Amino acid sequence: MKVNGTPTRTIWVEADGAVGAIDQTLLPHRYATIRIETVEHAAHAIKSMQVRGAPLIGATAAYGMALALRQDASDAGLERAYALLIATRPTAINLKWALDEMMAAVRNRAREDRVSAAYKRAQEIADEDVEINAAIGRHGLKLIEDIAAKKPGKPVNLLTHCNAGWLATVDWGTATSPIYQAHDKGIPVHVWVDETRPRNQGASLTAWELGHHGVPHTVIADNTGGHLMQHAQVDIAITGTDRVTAQGDVCNKIGTYLKALAAQDNNVPFYVALPSPTIDFTVSDGVAEIPIEQRGPEEVTTMTGKTADGRIESVRIVPDGSAVANYAFDVTPARLVTGLITERGIIAASREALATAFPERVSGT
Ligand code: MRU
Repeated sequence: MKVNGTPTRTIWVEADGAVGAIDQTLLPHRYATIRIETVEHAAHAIKSMQVRGAPLIGATAAYGMALALRQDASDAGLERAYALLIATRPTAINLKWALDEMMAAVRNRAREDRVSAAYKRAQEIADEDVEINAAIGRHGLKLIEDIAAKKPGKPVNLLTHCNAGWLATVDWGTATSPIYQAHDKGIPVHVWVDETRPRNQGASLTAWELGHHGVPHTVIADNTGGHLMQHAQVDIAITGTDRVTAQGDVCNKIGTYLKALAAQDNNVPFYVALPSPTIDFTVSDGVAEIPIEQRGPEEVTTMTGKTADGRIESVRIVPDGSAVANYAFDVTPARLVTGLITERGIIAASREALATAFPERVSGT
């Protein structure tokens, strides 16, 4: 997508082999990039959420392996890098998918060939992500066009939770890709953007990128969506996901499950957009089997923002001494999901549909 008119990806390779990325902890008030030179830098960027979003976490880990092999191309170096990166965040399966892809690409190669093979596979993973998300957009566009046809001249009102935009991927985004394609095609759209406490990925990232692309949107408090659905102000909800199980259970940012419940109660179609690397065919029952990240209490107790005179400051919003819990993700059972928007089309959130659409992934488990 474009930043100030310049086509921009969220991650890229510099001429000297270092990796560049947008520092998403500074958005929306500051646009800055980081330089990732070592596997330790890559691990820090993922853990601190300078880069975040399941597909981008995968791409960053892939580049991290290439950087690691530049430092030490031995088998021990490879294992050390894998262990460091896999331990950064537990929920988004794209991390393990990308690391396993990198291992497969370099493990059986001579040491002197590993660095170039790693950069090649990491670049392919990044390029594939862009193509996959564009395909997700083409399939999801149909859903928006069908709704638009029923309400000529009026905007299609979508609701999304967290940031499953181009900032969460290498480009295009997953949930946002159909929205960008509809907007670019001149179909009137409007997006209700959940702020997405506690890190506000919706308010700080989704609103930022939709604004940069000129897509009409309204930021809402997380608890507002149900009310809007009751008053027929939401035509369709589309979110992203960090892991979809073999039976179609969907794990995504905390609060997604509650949106799905409200959508079902109000007959609002609830779609989830995902690239196939986000499918985990080794687990079935999402609630029982997906590890849910718990992050630091400071993400809940403090808020960061811009003061009237332009300074960036954090303030405490919880009384001293109060206990705090910070679950980062939840699971929406397949029964609440209207459909999955994948690069191979829109499919049901079911074991049969997933296995039929991605047979090569099932046989690999
Ligand atoms: O904690 P985050 O910001 O990494 O969580 C991101 C999400 O939950 C996204 O919805 C998901 O990763 C899909 S990104 C295309």
